[in-house]
Formats: sequence, C-alpha cells, structure tokens
Amino acid sequence: MPQTVGFAVIGVGLVGPTHARFITQAEGAELKVICDLREDRGKPLAEKYGAEWLTDYRAVMQRPDVQVVNICLPTALHLEVATAAAEAGKHVIVEKPIELNIDRALKLIATCRQNGVKLATIFNRRFVFGTRRAHAAVHNGELGKLVVADMFFKSWRTQEYYDESGWRGTWSKEGGAALINQGVHGVDLMTWIAGPIKRVQGYAKHLRHNIEADDTTIAVCEYESGALGVIECTTSVYPRQPDRIELNGEKGTIVIEDYKITQWEVDGVTQGEPAAAELAIPGADRGTSVGHFLQIQDMVRAIQERRDPVIKGEDALPSLAVIQAIYEAERTGKPVDVRQVVLA
Ligand SMILES: NC(=O)c1ccc[n+]([C@@H]2O[C@H](COP(=O)([O-])OP(=O)(O)OC[C@H]3O[C@@H](n4cnc5c(N)ncnc54)[C@H](O)[C@@H]3O)[C@@H](O)[C@H]2O)c1
Repeated sequence: MPQTVGFAVIGVGLVGPTHARFITQAEGAELKVICDLREDRGKPLAEKYGAEWLTDYRAVMQRPDVQVVNICLPTALHLEVATAAAEAGKHVIVEKPIELNIDRALKLIATCRQNGVKLATIFNRRFVFGTRRAHAAVHNGELGKLVVADMFFKSWRTQEYYDESGWRGTWSKEGGAALINQGVHGVDLMTWIAGPIKRVQGYAKHLRHNIEADDTTIAVCEYESGALGVIECTTSVYPRQPDRIELNGEKGTIVIEDYKITQWEVDGVTQGEPAAAELAIPGADRGTSVGHFLQIQDMVRAIQERRDPVIKGEDALPSLAVIQAIYEAERTGKPVDVRQVVLA
C-alpha cells in the first residue's frame, strides 16, 4: 500500500478552504496543517478537519508529516513560499496565477526543479466536460483548422472586493487585476485549446473601480496557427455575464458558456456527454471546482508514481506571457509579440 501523503494549506481566504475540503476527500491524502495569519480564518478550519493551525509558513516547512504545500496566498507571495517549500523538500501546488510575471514564474519553476520537488499550478477549469470536450475537438481535428477563437469573461466585483484584500488590484502584489486574476483562467483555456498566441494588441483600463490596474481589458490576438480572436476580461460589468468561449473552425462551431457547451455544430460529430463515473467525482456538482479535487488527487498519484503532475509549473507560462504582453500593449499603445515577453 502506498503511504499517505500529508498536506498543508497556506492561506485560507477565498480559495484555500476549497483546497482543504478536497484534500480531506482525496484518496491517500491527509490534511495536517492549515496556515494563515488570521485566527478567524485559520483556527476554525483547522478544527473542522482535525488539522493544526499555524501562523508562520516557515514552521510548516519544518513538519516531517507534510509532503505537499498548497499555496493559496496573495500572488506576490507565491515565489517566496514556494522557494521555502522546495528548499525543505516539499512538493508544491500553487494557485493561479503562478506569480506576478514571467520572470518570477521562471524562478519559481527553476527552484522546484533544482530541489527535485513536484510543482503543480491550479487551472481547475480545464477539467470540466465542456472545456475538455472542446480541447479534444480541436486537437483531434474534429473542428478542423481554427479560424476564430474568442473569450468573453465579463464579470462584476465590488470596490470592497479590492479594498478589503490589501493586495488585489495592485501592480506590486497582484501583477495586474481583472486579466491576471479572473482572466488567467480563460487565457489558459484559450492557449490550451486553441494553441499558442503569437501577437496581441489591446487595452487594459480601469473604468469603474478605484484600483491601480485593469478592470476592463480587451485585446485582439493572432494565434500561431493563423487564427484570430479576442480576449475580453472585466470585473466592471454588472450583472456578471456567463464566461463565454467561442471556437469557429473550418468544420463548425463550439460555444461554451459557464463551462457548459451551449452550441455544438460540428460536421458529422456528436458532442457526447460525461460518463457517470465523472459525475461522481467530488466537486463535479460544483462545476469548475472539480478541477481542484482532481489536481490534488493527481499530486498524490504523481508522488506515488514518481512523475510530473498533470499540470506542471511550466504549463502556467503561455497564459502568463499573453497577459504580460496585453499589459505591455496597453503601456506602449503598440502590438506586442508574446515571445518577446518570454525572452526579455
Ligand atoms: N482557482 C481559483 O478558482 C481561485 C479563486 C480565488 C483565488 N485564487 C488565487 O488564489 C490566491 C489567493 O487568493 P484569495 O482570493 O484566496 O486570497 P485572500 O486574500 O482571500 O486569502 C489569502 C489568505 O492568505 C493569508 N495570508 C496572507 N499572508 C500570509 C502569510 N504571510 N502567511 C500566512 N497567511 C497569509 C491571509 O490572511 C488570507 O486569509 C491568489 O493567487 C488567487 O489568484 C484562485
């Protein structure tokens, strides 16, 4: 029997509790530590799951019963805490976006590789049926050569959402705002499904919130394949609209709204449906959070099977480079070659 893998969740604000819950449901995983500076968040959650509450993340790294740390902290802390984890020989699951920019992301990835620990980046929205089916349709040729690939993520956040956090909406602690926080999910899906993006041109403004970075971003993209598309991401549109992805290929059209396929018109191919076993996976009833469960379960298996996780640190780079390029396009008012961002 493989040994149980001990987990610690560091940061239990908005998303950390989801990690804690799914660790307790994953086979072969055991939640050992909840770490948060705030007692009102950390202590009750630790008590709920019979884990220990710690405030200092350095103390987590001393724990011999912890093999994996889930970093659910404000984005600018990811590198520092992942470095401490890697140097202590702990595997890392880090929330999206992996870090503020490509430079810091590369350091984080290299530190994990150099220390021989596994690194998974959360992209939970790749695991729902709608996005997986669309990915398959593009990659197995069912949709034919892509002509247009668009994402429209128009959502709403209050001013309090930014103000109470102390980090959201700032360049120094978030690396941007709407596009890097909410939009990174969609940009990851676009680069994963439709392929690498070569060049972008666009705007990243704050039109409604009192924040430093963007709440309204619109860019035009040229894919390496030659396809064209737009990336729209806002936290300034009320009421929130469904997250929408549109894929137009030579053989048809797929539209996904809130991760469900709402239009499937593909020549001679049916959409199919998820198998019953997939619907029984913890979190499947809660839409995209099924991905959190599957990525945590996958880390346990990756350790047991001595392989990389299904989404590695490196897989966070294509979307982050596109995001950085769009911010650069706003700053310069010019089209930006995405590869230049990575090479800079
Ligand atoms: N995958 C998703 O669906 C999803 C959803 C929300 C957030 N996120 C990502 O998760 C990360 C966290 O976001 P959030 O919205 O949960 O943030 P948050 O501000 O709600 O929570 C962060 C928590 O970290 C704690 N913290 C801060 N500094 C600490 C330190 N030095 N030591 C211990 N605890 C500390 C805070 O007290 C807070 O409780 C971000 O990178 C964000 O982009 C992902």
